[in-house]
Amino acid sequence: MLNYYIYILLEGVNMKKVISIILSISLLVSLCAVSAQAARRGIDLSYAVASDLHYNVPDEELEWFSEDPIYGYANRRAAMENESGLIIQEMLNQVAADKNIDFLLVSGDLADNGKSILEEHEAVAAMFKDFEETSGKQVYVVPGNHDYGNPGEYCVTDAAKFREIYAEFGYDQAIEEEGLSYIADLGEKYRLIALDSNDPSKSTEDGMTNDKVNWVIDQAQRAYDDGRYPILMMHHNLLDHMPMQRVLSHDFIIRNHTDTANKWANAGIRLVFSGHEHCSDATTHTSPAGNQISDFATTSLTMYPLQYRFIEMNDDEISYKTKTVDKIDTDALTAAVDGYSQEQIDAMNNGLNAFAKEYLKNGVEYRLERGFNDEQLGIKPSDIYYDLVRGAVDALNDVLNLPLYGEGSAQELARKYNIEIPESDYKDGWDVATELVSAHYAGSEHYPLYERDVKILLLTMSLVIKEEFAFLDDQIIFQAAGALIAANGVENMDAILDMVTDETEGVTAAEYFIVALASPLLQSFANDDGVDDNRGVITGYGVNDQMTNMGNNLLEGTLNVADFLYTMLRYFIKILNIWMK
Ligand SMILES: [Fe+2]
Ligand SMILES: [Fe+2]
Repeated sequence: MLNYYIYILLEGVNMKKVISIILSISLLVSLCAVSAQAARRGIDLSYAVASDLHYNVPDEELEWFSEDPIYGYANRRAAMENESGLIIQEMLNQVAADKNIDFLLVSGDLADNGKSILEEHEAVAAMFKDFEETSGKQVYVVPGNHDYGNPGEYCVTDAAKFREIYAEFGYDQAIEEEGLSYIADLGEKYRLIALDSNDPSKSTEDGMTNDKVNWVIDQAQRAYDDGRYPILMMHHNLLDHMPMQRVLSHDFIIRNHTDTANKWANAGIRLVFSGHEHCSDATTHTSPAGNQISDFATTSLTMYPLQYRFIEMNDDEISYKTKTVDKIDTDALTAAVDGYSQEQIDAMNNGLNAFAKEYLKNGVEYRLERGFNDEQLGIKPSDIYYDLVRGAVDALNDVLNLPLYGEGSAQELARKYNIEIPESDYKDGWDVATELVSAHYAGSEHYPLYERDVKILLLTMSLVIKEEFAFLDDQIIFQAAGALIAANGVENMDAILDMVTDETEGVTAAEYFIVALASPLLQSFANDDGVDDNRGVITGYGVNDQMTNMGNNLLEGTLNVADFLYTMLRYFIKILNIWMK
């Protein structure tokens, strides 16, 4: 039986090589084509995109959530609420001053408590109005899930109120409106389709319907009929911005996202701007008919990395970069809010971006520690692995809080089990974990699963199993790990298994379990897909690559399947080997 698996495995390798060679040749051909097009100049459209402003009226006095003397006021959302207005103002100042930027798109969540606190919307609209008047540049908005709802006890902003407050920021420029969606021309060649993707009765989930999907298709067709290229903006994500987003973060990506992406790509939409997930991420999808559509998720402006996008485009190319807010008016901040120490203000003035990163890490830790509940973990008491996961997660929190190095440290504990945690500057496991989460938000993540940082985290986590579940029969742990792997459809299991094997001389059931538990999450946060999130160039609307795309799509699909089979087979062989020992 084992020989049979090895035979299939070798077949898989050869097949993979052949496919890789074909793919490399076709990539080379398409790269030559792109560099020939790069000999261009002349920009047709040049603009900024910001998202998820989450404006908050600042507190009168600073509220503390943990003991850290500088960042201890980081809240559950890790959003810089007190500073939000000043960050938005700084972004608007930069956009106003930049002569290369002609207008500003904002893809929703304008006000943090926009449904219930009208004052927040009014403050944002006032900043936009001042910006438009002084710069002469237009702002176009769409609502996010924080911005309006059905009128009720807590909700004061309904659709009509939102439309009224933001009338001057897209709706007055609209050629046509449909609810809170609208279309407006951009420059000579383009048209904005601003889609309201929300359901006013829901807090986070999208409100996409067939009617909305078809409305976009009709508007795209109409744009082409009028000689214009359609650009789409909506709050919810169209494409996955992390592997398994539909599983791990399902309220953030629209329902039927692949089907909708195919339809909109085939309708000639190439460019989509979204927000909501608060990560900086670019993803390109090719429909089976060979049409490409890219969804650029823009991070929340008022959270690390305090970024917005800058786009320049013509027929041939769409180039994108990110711009950063690295300072705010701290005098205005201390005038509005009591309780900031000079140390905090100095830290902000030394570079707001670095400050925002530490603030985020503190906020994420605060949030995750409190978010390790069954629902967030996706487990229920009837699951075969429930007791294991529940116990492991509780113990995990304890281990992540241990200092990594020195007396009574995780490193010291690990040595009892012949596990060597590599040296680093990290303070504790939480420090490593939140570093990986902040990399996810900032985009362009580059943490291969075998890299030191990931290794430290995994080895620290495996201690939990060693300590907590030493009494459990290996067979039960294997079973649970198998169930978790099956439930998650994990890729790249090999890299992690190899790493664990190297470190610990042979894989134990406990290590298998921690790998099965951790790898889908790590993979989601620590690994990026092929498209650069923050800086790059994609094909413009005027280039028809349908046939090439169709060919590449087919090859990539085949490669993915081959990769998956290869990984799974190797995994099974390892399991079989261990069982046979
Ligand atoms: Fe948001
Ligand atoms: Fe949102």
